[in-house]
Amino acid sequence: MKQEIETIQSDALAAIAAASDEKTLDDARVAFLGKKGRLTAAAAGMRHLSSEEKPVMGQLLNVARQAITSAIEEKQTALSELADQKSVEGIDLTLPGRALSGGGLHPLTQVKDDAIQTLRRMGFALADGPEIETEFHCFDALNTPADHPARNEKDTFYFDSGKLLRTHTSSVQIRTMEKAAPPVRIIAPGSAYRRDEIDATHLSVFNQLEGLYVDTDVKLSDLKGTLEFFLRSMFGDDTEVRFRPHFFPFTEPSFEIDIKLHAKGQEPKWIEIAGCGMVDPAVFASLCETRGDDVFDPDKVTGFAFGMGIDRLAMIKWGIKDIRLLIENDVRFLQQFA
Ligand code: DAH
Repeated sequence: MKQEIETIQSDALAAIAAASDEKTLDDARVAFLGKKGRLTAAAAGMRHLSSEEKPVMGQLLNVARQAITSAIEEKQTALSELADQKSVEGIDLTLPGRALSGGGLHPLTQVKDDAIQTLRRMGFALADGPEIETEFHCFDALNTPADHPARNEKDTFYFDSGKLLRTHTSSVQIRTMEKAAPPVRIIAPGSAYRRDEIDATHLSVFNQLEGLYVDTDVKLSDLKGTLEFFLRSMFGDDTEVRFRPHFFPFTEPSFEIDIKLHAKGQEPKWIEIAGCGMVDPAVFASLCETRGDDVFDPDKVTGFAFGMGIDRLAMIKWGIKDIRLLIENDVRFLQQFA
């Protein structure tokens, strides 16, 4: 029996040494140490031995079991080290890491966020309204007569239903005042749509920021102070701002606002940046009719409104000459603002 145990041990050690992966190693373990394994069978044979032989063979069996078990453990460690090595084979661990390229906010998002932040600090709350609008909210309620050129099919995208893509964010003024009561102090950034020929200064989808302040005693000086403060905080404390009389159907008096641009290597020049004015009492009167109450009684409330192009703000801020750059998403252009 001694002979048999020695043969089993040396067969086992040979099988373990030959095992090239976890699977064959485990097969070897089962073949020798498993329930039906060869060493287990040999141990069962002890029953037939005399009581003098039993302890001697028992010890031999133990020694063999230990030798096989530790050989298996050693082989397991060796195999897993080998697997680790293989998994990094061909990889040069001394190479410098690849940097992740960080993203950045689109310039339009940056100016928009900037403008919103400034105006919110001044007490304006965010409001919005639908981009698919009714003629009523986009024009009639804003005191714009049926024959006004902006309502032309040539200038405005109409749906068969008679609805349209809003041509300005001013419709949010009406949407807001239909539901709220004074004081109203809101800003509404959003898209507007016009059937314009696309060129360096026009897009058919563009971005505006509307503002409206209505209360019992809002004056032209409030409008002026608010917008001057806003523009100086956007473009610098020494920005020169000019209010030029203009016409909008929904404000009276109305103005266009220009700021003086000092571009490098160029004569400073005035450029238009926003429209604004005191809310026309006719707008309040029409609201009273729609609402069926008099919380916006034109004899009691006054207000100012303004609207500006966010794309325009971005172009001025960074001296961007072509508005199309803002929608082309050319990474070489956008990276400059990241
Ligand atoms: N809605 C005008 C436009 O798109 C801009 C504008 C002018 C908005 C005067 C106003 C305003 O709120 O008071 O050209």
